[in-house]
Amino acid sequence: MSAIIREREGGAAVGGIILTASHNPGGPAGDVGVKYNTGHGGPAPEGVTDAIYECSRKIAAFRECEALPEVDLSAVGRTDFVAAAGEAPAFTVEVISSTEDYCSAVLPCFDVPALRALLSRPDFRMVYDSMHGVAGPYATAVLVDALGADPSSLLNGTPKEDFGGGHPDPNLAYAEELVAAMGLTPEGTASDGAAGAPDFGAAADGDADRNMVLGRGFFVTPSDSVAVIAANWEAVRQFREAGGLKGVARSMPTSRALDSVASALGVPCFEVPTGWKWFGSLMDSAAVHGKTDYTPFLCGEESFGTGSSHVREKDGMWAVLAWLSVLAARNADTAPGALVSVSDIVTEHWRTYGRCFYQRHDYEEVDAAKAEAVMDRLRGLVAAFDGPRDAAGVSLTACDEFEYTDPVTGDTAARQGMRLYFGEAGRVAFRLSGTGSVGATIRMYVECIESDASRLTADAADVLAPFVAAALDLSGLPDLTGRDKPTVIT
Ligand code: CO
Repeated sequence: MSAIIREREGGAAVGGIILTASHNPGGPAGDVGVKYNTGHGGPAPEGVTDAIYECSRKIAAFRECEALPEVDLSAVGRTDFVAAAGEAPAFTVEVISSTEDYCSAVLPCFDVPALRALLSRPDFRMVYDSMHGVAGPYATAVLVDALGADPSSLLNGTPKEDFGGGHPDPNLAYAEELVAAMGLTPEGTASDGAAGAPDFGAAADGDADRNMVLGRGFFVTPSDSVAVIAANWEAVRQFREAGGLKGVARSMPTSRALDSVASALGVPCFEVPTGWKWFGSLMDSAAVHGKTDYTPFLCGEESFGTGSSHVREKDGMWAVLAWLSVLAARNADTAPGALVSVSDIVTEHWRTYGRCFYQRHDYEEVDAAKAEAVMDRLRGLVAAFDGPRDAAGVSLTACDEFEYTDPVTGDTAARQGMRLYFGEAGRVAFRLSGTGSVGATIRMYVECIESDASRLTADAADVLAPFVAAALDLSGLPDLTGRDKPTVIT
């Protein structure tokens, strides 16, 4: 959508209204979001949405034109609506090919011949799972038509109103068909089927803005994914032609794997609140706000969103093409049968930068008051903190409540989650989400940066256990909520 708003003939559109179902089915019982993106392509800033809301409160009447002629939505073209013969059109409806607009925005970001060469290798097999969302036609246009992938590499490519009964969330739990095909267990470890699995797998969510990247029997965490793309920026044509990245960013709960790469590259790395608009203002810093230019820009979030400054939204297909570009660059000279794999690339990344072990623990449908009590306990801890203290055997060395001031717009965001630091390596963050009638979800994000080469392939749960124990102790979560384990660990 961002590409369509920006690419209109005669300049960018004033804005775009998007009816989107990220992973909720449509239809009368469905839950379809309405989003408004402004002319720069990204989500509307708060000032605009607040003004729209104020206007909506003053709506006194609706008028409907009953005799409006039908427009054939299946055919590309323009229809002019003329009130009376000889008059100029009152308005025009243009049916466009959104896949065509998207291709013209995304393909120039990459080295198409290199991608075609990778996809034509007899020792390279990939699968792309559209999960019956809108990604299917884009996957056909980009992967098959433009890059020459075999049509059989597309899974669930026909968009369906009910997503074929599935839940199009690109993660280990919901993309079960792809996860099994890639030789993985739902826990993200190699299964018995790993040996015969394809070399590369990816999935999109219902509206194709998020992505999951998998290797043969290998799960790439979203936090690692953006860090690996940053480290391999030279493989991505849009970054290479601009002389490299000028800025990177991650949401606060996303692991600090990206920070290590940014520091090695000497580019600014921003830690922003959850929500794509915070990335958008950094991308527009120069073009819209006349400040320091951070583009080309790369950003990502632990919830499977990855993007760059070619548009102002997360872009799942872009992330997949960036990964294929990294594979293509690494395999430009490898002999048939000697493919450098996804797991080779990620484990080499860990050897260079250290591995950021990472888990998210979700406690779902917690009584809202009890969830608030956990956050209040942590706020009390921050207020009383006066120096390192022992917690379940590890040392809490710093803590705060995350707040953010946008360096470009000056917008501020308070109460964005609690952060606990355990020396340089360990960090645990807490956020509440979905506070509503069915209760709140407490998300606990646990990470540990490990540089010891002999520990790079250790079990994540083992590495993170001391920090989990310390965070549960300090937050009082088990006592305050009555929960002895999370609903789901991802
Ligand atoms: Co989405």
